[in-house]
Amino acid sequence: MTDNPVDPNSGRLDHTNEPPGHPDGTPIEEIDGRTLAIGSLADPIVHLSLVVPTYNESANIGRLLRSLHEVLNGMGATFEIIVVDDDSPDRTWATAAEIARTHPEIRVLRRTGTSGLATAVICGWAHARGSVLGAIDGDGQHPPEVVADLMAAMDERTDVAVASRHVPGGGVSNWSAVRRLLSRGAQALGLLLLPGTVGRVTDPMSGFFLVRRDVVATANLDPVGYKILLEVLARGDVLRVVERPYVFLERKEGESKVSAGHYLGYLRHLMRLRIHPLRSRALMRYLLVTVVALVADAVTFLWIFDRQGWNLTRSAAIAGEAGILLTVALHDLWTFAGRAARSTLDRIRRLLGVQIALGTLLAGRLLVINVLVNWFGLGPLTAFCIALAAITPVSHLLGSRLTWRRITA
Ligand code: GDD
Ligand code: MN
Repeated sequence: MTDNPVDPNSGRLDHTNEPPGHPDGTPIEEIDGRTLAIGSLADPIVHLSLVVPTYNESANIGRLLRSLHEVLNGMGATFEIIVVDDDSPDRTWATAAEIARTHPEIRVLRRTGTSGLATAVICGWAHARGSVLGAIDGDGQHPPEVVADLMAAMDERTDVAVASRHVPGGGVSNWSAVRRLLSRGAQALGLLLLPGTVGRVTDPMSGFFLVRRDVVATANLDPVGYKILLEVLARGDVLRVVERPYVFLERKEGESKVSAGHYLGYLRHLMRLRIHPLRSRALMRYLLVTVVALVADAVTFLWIFDRQGWNLTRSAAIAGEAGILLTVALHDLWTFAGRAARSTLDRIRRLLGVQIALGTLLAGRLLVINVLVNWFGLGPLTAFCIALAAITPVSHLLGSRLTWRRITA
């Protein structure tokens, strides 16, 4: 087997003189980085299509593919295993193709011109034939036998079956305290920004799950970095999610490809999903209502404090309350008009929830105003404006979490 020269600029293999496919004739599907849509039609002869994203896993992929093939063979359902390799310099695609020669259910896609775990999984699903799609890492850290548990959980009512480290029986082998902290920190940040999505499962960071094709076929999946499950939960038509435990094993060979860049990518991904539902007319209305409520808040304060001569705290409290009520009313009646009708009880419960949450923030605002005026000697109006500017972003984050979470995220 000739070793391909490596292009010094990209560090990638130079394929210019290489014939298509695997030198020994085992078909490797060469694909470029274009994103393909996931079709809604499945091939009736294949039930499960499990995608294995790989980058420089030549030392792990053989063992994984053999044990995965064994597990799936024992399950009794028809299946295909799709390795999506981003043109690994260590020729993981060739090693996988070697296995594919004797295991017809294994396919190898070699993707050039792009990289990324999450997009590799989507690319695999776009080439898949099964009615159930899945993702499992290619380094052996996700135990293949758990696929059988996930398949058993994928009944006709279930949309997504997730292998979780955070349900009873789940866990990680020996992660450092720093890695646990980072993982939990990332999850907490996700809960803050996307509670309706991240809060649906115990392990939203899991890269090991199954999903029914029609859940993702209509969703414009457009992830960043690693978190493919997050993308599916946020954009897919997901109603019922089940979880099964697994222990995240230690890598036998090689190392994780996670870098600091992936944490930034995760943040970008969260922000993109946070804004996504509002990227429409609703966003414009949302922002307009925010401005109107802020102005109403300030005008009410000025009128009561300046004109009526009421004391600072009472004026700010009434003004703040006016802002809250106006925000809720306008969002309900205008910003999100036409969205799913809610029962009166649900509306009252939501209104109370908002009242308590935004009311708490209002109390915080009153405290800030008093400290600024009484301790720092600032003018009432300046103090009012500073407090309003400081609290507003938090109240909107909280507000949308509480009031419109089923609508926005
Ligand atoms: N095709 C492709 N392209 N595959 C990639 C890429 C890429 O750019 N980057 C990584 N992979 C493959 C790896 O080769 C491996 O098979 C799998 O994706 C997971 O990558 P790791 O780098 O080993 O990730 P990890 O072990 O740190 O994190 C994994 O587990 C976490 C906990 O479940 C990932 O699945 C994370 O998404 C997950 O949060
Ligand atoms: Mn790994």
